[in-house]
Amino acid sequence: FSLKDLNTFHIDVKAKRFILVEKIDELFDLKDSFDLPSEKILILGGGSNVLFTKDFDSTIIQLSFNQLSEINSDKNFVLLKAEAGMVWDDLVKSTVENNLGGIENLAMIPGTVGAAPIQNIGAYGQELKDTLYEVEFYDLTERKIKSFSNEQCQFGYRDSVFKKSLKNKFIITSITLRLYKNPVPVLNYGNVATELSKEGIANPTIKDVSNIIRKIRTEKLPDPQKIGNAGSFFKNPFVDEKTLLQIKNNFPDVPSFLQENKIKIPAAWLIEKSGLKGFRKGNVGTYPKQPLVIVNYEDATGAEIIDFAKFIQKTVLETFNIELEPEVNII
Ligand code: FAD
Ligand code: EPU
Repeated sequence: FSLKDLNTFHIDVKAKRFILVEKIDELFDLKDSFDLPSEKILILGGGSNVLFTKDFDSTIIQLSFNQLSEINSDKNFVLLKAEAGMVWDDLVKSTVENNLGGIENLAMIPGTVGAAPIQNIGAYGQELKDTLYEVEFYDLTERKIKSFSNEQCQFGYRDSVFKKSLKNKFIITSITLRLYKNPVPVLNYGNVATELSKEGIANPTIKDVSNIIRKIRTEKLPDPQKIGNAGSFFKNPFVDEKTLLQIKNNFPDVPSFLQENKIKIPAAWLIEKSGLKGFRKGNVGTYPKQPLVIVNYEDATGAEIIDFAKFIQKTVLETFNIELEPEVNII
């Protein structure tokens, strides 16, 4: 079974078995199919944050249940429950159409609802954790559905409990979001506000903001349908004040941001200043408009992409003494 069309890097590897789960209840029957949780399985959403490096000698599970329902509402908030198989961007479009605020800046992030909590998806000044109310998941060890509150998910920058203590022990079945009925647009990221004023939009609605972010993303990021990629390959690194000051000696205009009270330097900037923006080696390269995105120009293998990523890490380490950590899940 080829996975080429099931991952946005378009890596041509095979899986031993593929199971499509169409109803939540079917999860309870999985134990009859193989030995959970000891048998290695992989839950695959849209495949937009994975890099396959070899054939997957086990079972891939995909979820197709994708219902959306309002479960509660008051004067200020709505609780919306979305099932894991729903396409994330369909959820964004639906909330924006209904003027419900909270995830409009997360427009155009590829993939599924079920994957969103895992790395606490974020973009343009919003993160999933800002509106996430509850996550439901099937616990592979205890074989029952459980729910976690926002706090139990231990969200951080591109991080959650699902990447830590719960890793490989769960299948997310739904998320519930707490969205604003009287939304206030989030305009503090990068060029969002300037792009809006260029279009002559003085008092933007969340729909205006969402649309301008779609435009910025379309111009800057490669379309995985046309050119294989998984978005940012690395996380933006946190550095201490001393490191930032050292870099400032040579690069007085180094950009930096505060997140979670820590200093973050854009990895895209570090890669560019290491001379690797638009750098290409064989089938693999950094995207010329956004060097944090590694692209598969032709039919690269996962191993070629890993070699290329290691070269980027080595060069940035030699240039800045900063280690870049992959964001993409390497399988
Ligand atoms: P997959 O890639 O299929 O899976 C990712 C991980 O989650 C794997 O470990 C998988 O096993 C696990 N998983 C998936 N679904 C489940 C489930 N239901 N239960 C348990 N485990 C599960 N990310 C951002 O945060 N911000 C961005 O702005 C952003 N931009 C991107 C732009 C492009 C062009 C691309 C290609 C990617 C971008 N990403 C971004 C990364 C990616 O879209 C997100 O990480 C997304 O949440 C991945 O969803 P997916 O369904 O494709 O997950
Ligand atoms: N930059 C450069 N050169 C470039 C591009 C960017 O120096 O060619 C510097 C600039 O200083 C710019 C800064 O990098 O201000 C940030 O760039 P950008 O706004 O493009 O965002 P990013 O930090 O590279 C992060 C996320 C993206 C998310 C955007 C927007 C991570 C790892 N990546 O990228 O998420 O869409 O912010 O919020 O945090 C993803 O996770 O896959 C992803 C695409």
